[in-house]
Amino acid sequence: QPMRELFGLKTMEEQLKEQFNLKEVVVVSGDTDEFSWVKKEIGRATVSCINDLLQANNIVAVTGGSTLAAVAEMMNADSKELMPLFVPARGGLGEDVGNQANTICAKMAERAKGNYRLLHMPDQLSKEAYSTMMEEPYVKEVLNLIRSSSIVVHGIGEAFTMAKRRKTSESNLEKLKEGNAVGEAFGYYFDEEGEVVHRVRTIGLQLEELNGIPYILSVAGGSSKAKAIRSFLKEGHSTILITDEGAAKELIKGI
Ligand code: G3H
Repeated sequence: QPMRELFGLKTMEEQLKEQFNLKEVVVVSGDTDEFSWVKKEIGRATVSCINDLLQANNIVAVTGGSTLAAVAEMMNADSKELMPLFVPARGGLGEDVGNQANTICAKMAERAKGNYRLLHMPDQLSKEAYSTMMEEPYVKEVLNLIRSSSIVVHGIGEAFTMAKRRKTSESNLEKLKEGNAVGEAFGYYFDEEGEVVHRVRTIGLQLEELNGIPYILSVAGGSSKAKAIRSFLKEGHSTILITDEGAAKELIKGI
């Protein structure tokens, strides 16, 4: 029985890798929607993937969310003393403190025995405030570090779950409905085709900038996130997917 299960997961990994043109796919058994321990297993699998990729003095950019918090929880120092530098991928997106990229970033650095730099930004930035912030030397410096990341580790959320959790305004909710948003990552909302229908204005990594980063680790599980995951993978924003059986089965059904 365990062998059969293993075989099933391997088959799913291969299918997803081919379908979405990914370098690597890891599928852990179970469904996050059913059992919370599955999220921890996703966290563990992600840490082992990060440790495999890490080289001396690499910069690792991370986003927020409960899945990334689970990754931070599992983070450990590789025996190689690589001194990774952790940075948040983007500024404030309206999450509770435990789910914020800054919190997760600091925790990962501590556990990995590395360093971190943070971006303290208000969640809502006017155009003027945004331009002013962009001129701040500290912000510029951290932005340069973010853009030089070797690895980005990020979560993917179901669009309306994320919009509600982040207390999105009525007018922006309307925009998401009209645009048929299904997924969210980095503060960008996507429709089923992977087109951006809305973006939160915050400082940090912009979607186009992902192109220059060697490894984009997309980390998300739960059958309810399948559409959201597909919306992000569709436009080829990702290089490695770490997910669970629940989401993988739904993703494969849609192939
Ligand atoms: O951007 C996506 C969200 O960070 C995902 O949040 O991991 O709590 O579902 P979650």
